[in-house]
Amino acid sequence: MPKLWGGRFTKSVTKLMGEFNDSLPFDKRLWKEEVEASRAYAAALAKAGVLSKSDRAKIVKALTEIGKELSAGGFIFMPEDEDIHTAIERRLVEKAGDAGKRIHTGRSRNEQVATDERIFLKSANIEAGESIRNLQTCVLALARKTAADILPSYTHLQQAQLIRLGHYFLSLFFMLENDRQRFADLEQRLDVLPLGAGAVAGSTVKLDRDLLRRELNFAELSPNSIAAVSDRDFINEFLFAAAQTLVHLSRFAEDLITWSSTEFSFVELDDAYSTGSSMMPQKKNPDSLELIRAKVARSISNLNTLLTLQKGLPLTYSKDLQEDKEPLFDSFDTLTSTLRVFTGVISTLKIRRQNLLRNTDDSIYATDIADYLVEKGVPFRKAHEIVGKLVLSGTAKDKLLRDFAPDELRDISDLFDEDYRKIFDPTRSVERHDVYGGTSLKRVNEQMELAGKMLAKKKLRRR
Ligand code: ARG
Repeated sequence: MPKLWGGRFTKSVTKLMGEFNDSLPFDKRLWKEEVEASRAYAAALAKAGVLSKSDRAKIVKALTEIGKELSAGGFIFMPEDEDIHTAIERRLVEKAGDAGKRIHTGRSRNEQVATDERIFLKSANIEAGESIRNLQTCVLALARKTAADILPSYTHLQQAQLIRLGHYFLSLFFMLENDRQRFADLEQRLDVLPLGAGAVAGSTVKLDRDLLRRELNFAELSPNSIAAVSDRDFINEFLFAAAQTLVHLSRFAEDLITWSSTEFSFVELDDAYSTGSSMMPQKKNPDSLELIRAKVARSISNLNTLLTLQKGLPLTYSKDLQEDKEPLFDSFDTLTSTLRVFTGVISTLKIRRQNLLRNTDDSIYATDIADYLVEKGVPFRKAHEIVGKLVLSGTAKDKLLRDFAPDELRDISDLFDEDYRKIFDPTRSVERHDVYGGTSLKRVNEQMELAGKMLAKKKLRRR
């Protein structure tokens, strides 16, 4: 069979060019969207008087059969099928004859591809949000279990200040909430139907575009046919939202990898999410987390690919845009599988409470000691300097700060009293951070309550 566009050609493309040109191997994933959009288009053509009642019925029947063939794997692709659009149209003509030959009246693949992608993304977007929500549910459950536990926080990977472990896990929850909101915000920009844009200038058929919109369940119609066929900003946005989510996950994966090392031993991964070494019998490696940390690389590259693809691309459609699909599918698949694995890791993670404070150096109380002096009237900058000297002296003497004798303390400042030792209490330290968003138990509970409310809200905020 010749190509659908074969009329003005005297010879066919080489095999090499054929393979180079075809997008079918990857865009056949859009078959459902294509069948759905064609069905709606037939309705609009019938309303415009291009299709008779019986033509439309033949097309709808054929499309239903084609859908069945495609879902059951019985659809036979032909060498001349370049992409999913031409494949389905070719089969439609085989089944519905002349009626099938009318389906493309006033229609262009330029609008079809943008339409199919938007239909695909509308549900992919919901799935992304739901997968994030599932992870958030497990993260919140873990935060509840660990709300009271205390461990060091790190800045520059050096011990910084004591925090509640629940507070730490809630930080993941709230980052994920931003991610979920980002996908939800995107929904309104995805929910715009290009169909009716034609190749570039708008269809020549008097289509009832609002009928198309209702048939395909879109909120709005694209207001400009040129933008409709040219722009892929909605894919860029989805890829960014995916990459940002995975960037978040990669940082927590990194922490958990560190925390599962012998040196830290704060957590232990479930066997189901670890692997062994073929040589070293003792090894239990956090491969799940390493892969989660790694997956973001391709997600960032996919975003980069899409932006680079569109940079300086002349309006309107060029074949370059065919290259938008593989990165899109890859980012979506990577995102959902990574979220699923991370959810498994989090929901089976074992916390080794006994180790959380095992290697905490007394200098983690340095800020608390400075605050102690501030309470006695010392200006903070001065207190900072005094405590700096104390830490330095502790290091020089190889002595714990809590073990400094009263006369040793007085050498540094005469404001140190016998109540000095009360400072070295983990609970006291965290409870002092009693500000909204802080790490005191009351504030952590407050955050958990807020998190619960965010999860319970079915409908996300929309602008
Ligand atoms: N396979 C093409 C794509 O994915 C469909 C659009 C082709 N349009 C055209 N004018 N050649 O972008």
